Amino acid sequence: MVPLFLFFLLLSTAQAAATAANEYLKLPLLHKTPRPSPTQTILLDVYRLSHLRHRHHHHQSQKGIIKSPVVSGAPSGSGQYFVELRLGSPPQTLLLVADTGSDLLWVSCSACRGNCSSFHAPGSTFLARHSSSFAPYHCYDTMCSLVPQPDPNPCNRTRLHSPCRYQYLYSDGSATSGFFSKDTTTLKTSSGKEAKVEKLSFGCGFRITGPSVSGSSFNGAHGVMGLGRGPISFASQLGRRFGNKFSYCLMDYTLSPPPTSYLIIGDGGGDGDEQSAISKSSKMSFTPLLANPLSPTFYYIGIKSVKVNKAKLRIDPSVWSLDELGNGGTVMDSGTTLTFLPEPAYVKILTAIKRRVRLPSPAESTPGFDFCFNVTGTPRPKLPRLSFELGGGSVFEPPPRNYFIDTEEDIMCLAIQPAGREMGFSVIGNLMQQGFLFEFDRDKSRLGFSRHGCALS
Ligand SMILES: *[C@@H]1O[C@H](CO)[C@@H](O)[C@H](O)[C@H]1NC(C)=O
Ligand SMILES: *[C@@H]1O[C@H](CO)[C@@H](O)[C@H](O)[C@H]1NC(C)=O
Ligand SMILES: *[C@@H]1O[C@H](CO)[C@@H](O)[C@H](O)[C@H]1NC(C)=O
Repeated sequence: MVPLFLFFLLLSTAQAAATAANEYLKLPLLHKTPRPSPTQTILLDVYRLSHLRHRHHHHQSQKGIIKSPVVSGAPSGSGQYFVELRLGSPPQTLLLVADTGSDLLWVSCSACRGNCSSFHAPGSTFLARHSSSFAPYHCYDTMCSLVPQPDPNPCNRTRLHSPCRYQYLYSDGSATSGFFSKDTTTLKTSSGKEAKVEKLSFGCGFRITGPSVSGSSFNGAHGVMGLGRGPISFASQLGRRFGNKFSYCLMDYTLSPPPTSYLIIGDGGGDGDEQSAISKSSKMSFTPLLANPLSPTFYYIGIKSVKVNKAKLRIDPSVWSLDELGNGGTVMDSGTTLTFLPEPAYVKILTAIKRRVRLPSPAESTPGFDFCFNVTGTPRPKLPRLSFELGGGSVFEPPPRNYFIDTEEDIMCLAIQPAGREMGFSVIGNLMQQGFLFEFDRDKSRLGFSRHGCALS
């Protein structure tokens, strides 16, 4: 799967970079589309995986889960990106959703002993008792205070085995609960060596519910790799050893064959390393990452204004701001498919786009989308261009395929949705991020992005 030239580039530069201290982790990012059902339609599952913020008035909104028929063969299906994790001793390979909108790394777990093949298909779950290095944290361990716990919590300080219970919720109502645990993970570094990380903390999930994390819509994944800003995230735990920075490029999965890209954790620790070579040659733009003390998980960026075909829309800048109660703001979320913008901004964008697309409406409306059009006989429709002016003055100008999707043969829809009041913040989803190299520099508190970095990463 690894394109040869990439492999060569990495090997040669990694050797030049020399010492092991300069190594970083390099995990292939995969994209899977759902299997078509016998009726030749597939479900478009639009994930909303951002971690539920603990707010005064949170409603559990299902709005992000949209099921609409998609003509098979146009593989514009599910919108998640996966990474493989090898967990335990001996290692068990698990497929996890890469999610910048949450912190917890969790895997579906089984307490089955011995021969488990009559209970679980091989490789379908993490068999905790088959790993000699697995151990749940004690509920009185300081590590346990880092995870949200169920209420009531049957923690008994004096009992020797009283595991740390966690309960983690996502904004669409999905949830996972189980034991917060530690185990060894074996990862590949940039030079192709194996790096063993002892005591990776993760949720061993015994109860997994909700549309985004269970059933067919989870697409065979075994869990979620939270890459958020909080202390328990994979990026935080591994950043201590490999460098407090990560980057990825979410490739356009409608391309055939699907291109390979990587989640890179760490920065090689200085100049002359490959990744800074990438960021230099890819002419990265930067925008500050903003902090919200009330929501320490999220990577916020600031949107200053929006243009449609170079015309600036009249949107009150306060629409985008983060207020003192921690509401508002815009989050970069690889675990959410669509982009959600504040209602007043959304309405202006929708109006401006509608005015510039002069194509017939489809016979029937597409559930979950406000604006769709029929492109029959217009194979290359001229679509309006969106651009976002960000904090720090950089401009993010995604190509139209990042915000118009094919929902049916010859039907395209605007893949942006209004962020309702109950959601409380805006989300730049993974579709909007496609084809850009993003670098989350946690030490410098800035997000780098480049339209030309994917071929290099
Ligand atoms: C495990 O159980 C399955 C089904 O019960 C059986 O077919 C298989 O032979 C068993 N494997 C071992 C190693 O005992
Ligand atoms: C806690 O565990 C100890 C030792 O097993 C037991 O004696 C005690 O009753 C337990 N306390 C509670 C509140 O369950
Ligand atoms: C799109 O337009 C074509 C040509 O006018 C028509 O045949 C087709 O039924 C339309 N599709 C939908 C879904 O409205």
